[in-house]
Amino acid sequence: MNKSDVLVIGGGVAGLSFAIWLADQRKDLQITVLTKANSAESNTSYAQGGVAAVWDENVDDFKKHIEDTLDAGDGICHEDIVKIVVEEGPKRVQEIIEWGARFDKNKAGNYDLGREGGHSENRILHFKDITGWEIQRTLIEKSKEYDNITFLEHYFAINIITQHHLGRLTTRLTPDIECYGAYALNKKTNSIETFVAKVTVLATGGAGQVYKSTTNPTIATGDGIAMMYRAKGRVANMEFMQFHPTSLYNPAGENPSFLVSEAVRGYGAILRTADGAEFMDRYDERKSLAPRDIVARAIDNEMKIRGDEFVYLDCTHLDPEGFENHFPNITKKCKSLGIDPMKDFIPVVPACHYTCGGINVDEYGRSSIKYLYAAGECTHTGLHGANRLASNSLLEGLVYGQRMALDILKVIDEIENPPHIPNWDAEGTTEPREMVLLTQSLKELKEIMSSYVGIVRTDVRLKRALDRLFLLHQETELLYNSTIISPQLCELRNLITISYLITRSAAMRKESRGLHYNTDYPNQFDYRQDTLL
Ligand code: FAD
Ligand code: SIN
Repeated sequence: MNKSDVLVIGGGVAGLSFAIWLADQRKDLQITVLTKANSAESNTSYAQGGVAAVWDENVDDFKKHIEDTLDAGDGICHEDIVKIVVEEGPKRVQEIIEWGARFDKNKAGNYDLGREGGHSENRILHFKDITGWEIQRTLIEKSKEYDNITFLEHYFAINIITQHHLGRLTTRLTPDIECYGAYALNKKTNSIETFVAKVTVLATGGAGQVYKSTTNPTIATGDGIAMMYRAKGRVANMEFMQFHPTSLYNPAGENPSFLVSEAVRGYGAILRTADGAEFMDRYDERKSLAPRDIVARAIDNEMKIRGDEFVYLDCTHLDPEGFENHFPNITKKCKSLGIDPMKDFIPVVPACHYTCGGINVDEYGRSSIKYLYAAGECTHTGLHGANRLASNSLLEGLVYGQRMALDILKVIDEIENPPHIPNWDAEGTTEPREMVLLTQSLKELKEIMSSYVGIVRTDVRLKRALDRLFLLHQETELLYNSTIISPQLCELRNLITISYLITRSAAMRKESRGLHYNTDYPNQFDYRQDTLL
């Protein structure tokens, strides 16, 4: 049995900024951080474009950033949350600079502020085109300064522990579900350990791996959201899965798909169809820099009409030195595939990129389950609405990391130690005989989601998806209940739950809004509610 005051599941921007804040304020609290792979592997590490914050007050202000966020979110952002994140964001960015993050500066010595789709001003702080790597590095190094933070890598959290594990029946209507920690699989010893804590924080990131093509690393299997749903907690707005317009087209197939940052379009690159014609002017006056939902749908439409497998991103008119300086990683990747961005058009396709919905939390990251908080991409805070504005995600992680710490500091001394928790019961389970059953089911799942619940949806497609998901669910539950647990089995199970949540929420929304486009309901109704499951 592992005991701590606070158990943090996830070590990306949200989990680590939280752990640092709490550890700094209370040296007597023991904080355990679990990561399912090594500590550097997270969506955070892959972030390219940067972190959005109002920085140059001569041209930019909170009002503009708030309006851009609300506009991208297409009518269902929670305005109070948008205001909080935008207004507290610059302080959190300043703080991470003080913790050691290096963001690029221009020749005048000011921060070089980039632009991305949907932003009316340049406000993206970045480190080259590998901002996430720099943020992850900074947070890992900073958190190592605190003796009261214990890092446990390669621990796969399976389930959060609630009264259910003490034999009490809990349903989605049970008002007082409490969380006492989590069961996690030690991937090195293959044993399931019990982690008990007064407060548990889910910071497990997104779920892009439900689709065949995604920019998300393989760890992005929605584990936290699925654990929450299984524990009968509330989850919201899962229909809003964001597709990034420009992942690098690679006929050989890559998991994850390599991202060509939106900052490249912010730098002046133009989208063109295979015959070299510009097309975005027919979809939005902001052309290649319209919000992501609009650009991704436009590309999807052009590809379908023309029967093409990709569109092009044209950078050939841009200043070569400036481009290579800002985008060295993208340049290197393109060149490795024989594409010189200064001479050749870059072939790009939309790929799943971001989970806008998730665990429903309030302005301090408090979930519907007592003693369970959540932050980052696994949550629905109300910031993103129906479509996240570019580079608002790292910002949200930083702001909520601190807010959760502030709230937990107020209550932790009043929380009693959890009751006695039984060890994980694996009785009656046997070694899996055919791992191929899991890999095949995963392939089927991704095929179902990509074919029926992608950028464009219909009622018939959603129904087909739900029917097929039901079968996969049944087969996988049989395996789960009879075989010894493996990370692959848990991830498959979680991805099926996530797919169900996306599809079910999509079927509930009888309109098209933001990232959810259903040709049976092409218009918007005055239905400005969140989809709560
Ligand atoms: P993550 O950083 O994904 O961390 C999740 C953590 O949870 C990991 O440590 C993982 O090991 C752990 N975990 C997950 N499941 C389990 C489990 N079962 N047991 C134990 N541990 C678990 N956003 C921006 O704002 N700006 C950008 O420029 C930007 N660019 C991006 C580029 C790419 C290619 C991608 C994929 C995303 C980008 N994003 C960007 C989005 C942003 O990076 C993420 O939304 C954000 O980093 C998520 O942070 P997080 O802390 O919520 O989760
Ligand atoms: C990008 O660099 O295009 C990704 C930015 C984001 O997802 O916020």
